[in-house]
Amino acid sequence: MSLVLGIETSCDETGAGLVRDGVLLGEGLASSADEHARFGGVVPEVAARAHVSAVTPMVRAAVEAAGVSLSDVDAVAVTAGPGLSPALHVGVAAAKAYAAALDVPLYGVHHLAGHAAVDVLEHGPLPDRCVCLIVSGGHTSLLALGDLARDPVEHLGDTVDDAAGEAFDKVARLLGLPYPGGPSVSRAALDGDPAAIAFPRPMTGPRDAAFGFSFSGLKTAVARHVEAAQDAGRAVPVPDVAASFQMAVVDVLVRKALRACAERGADTLLMVGGVAANRVLRTEMERACAAAGITLRVPVPRLCTDNGAMIAALGDLLVRDGVEPAGLAGTAVPTVP
Ligand code: KG4
Ligand code: ZN
Repeated sequence: MSLVLGIETSCDETGAGLVRDGVLLGEGLASSADEHARFGGVVPEVAARAHVSAVTPMVRAAVEAAGVSLSDVDAVAVTAGPGLSPALHVGVAAAKAYAAALDVPLYGVHHLAGHAAVDVLEHGPLPDRCVCLIVSGGHTSLLALGDLARDPVEHLGDTVDDAAGEAFDKVARLLGLPYPGGPSVSRAALDGDPAAIAFPRPMTGPRDAAFGFSFSGLKTAVARHVEAAQDAGRAVPVPDVAASFQMAVVDVLVRKALRACAERGADTLLMVGGVAANRVLRTEMERACAAAGITLRVPVPRLCTDNGAMIAALGDLLVRDGVEPAGLAGTAVPTVP
């Protein structure tokens, strides 16, 4: 049984994780999110500098939490892409240094496959046919999963503009609610009527890409609604706008995910990403999956967002499957599909 060290630095989280044979032994996680808040988005150079400072302490934290020694590590896995180029290079360079110093194999892995692989730690092996919905501040994608260790990630569809979490964050700003927008919009929505305002359900028409997403038009529809109320001197009905917007997003995600499962003959849907923490999304997705005879798997919120455990989990699958490591010549691939 091999002990795999995973390193993740594709965006603003510096993550390290240690996994042995499907069991998470320890983690370290730092975030530079606060440093990006005043810029209104993640600044790659700022993220990269934060990774340089945090990567070694996070590996040390994971080793201490696992109660092992660094010299016990048998393989290193690192996110090669997709992600922010300067941020990825920090993780890849650090992983190479660890692999070279420890004289162990190095695996460069796909970030989105890592998001799916983390669920194996909690719920065991994935079935042969599985659809994965990734909904976060950075991604909104539907993937068809095969063998995570051997098959390339197959994108069924992605957002053409904003990610779902980004739409929550922008709508929160329009409504004067605090960042991050997901939790604050969903809190405001508790007192609102999800049917109060008929916001559009983007990309659900018959001529739209079957599994593509678009959330920027929905955000504009919310902005128009807010402006119209302000121009007429009316108070903006924040709870109703929040609840109606949230239901529009949820409705689109549920419809497309279920359609993808039906088309691919998948009886399991995996849902990950920060937005997967949304209560209404979880409830509606559970209801739709139950009606369609589909098993819904959602990791605990801590493992839904970017972390090192997911990369260690994927590395562990590769090692156990006997996949050939890439070697020390590999590099980051920011735009890997
Ligand atoms: O996966 P994540 O932590 O980070 C990145 O995307 O890097 O996702 C963060 C996103 C934010 O846009 C946040 O507003 C959203 O997830 N989010 C939510 C909820 N909690 C977090 N969106 C909707 N409802 C929530 N309860
Ligand atoms: Zn991610």
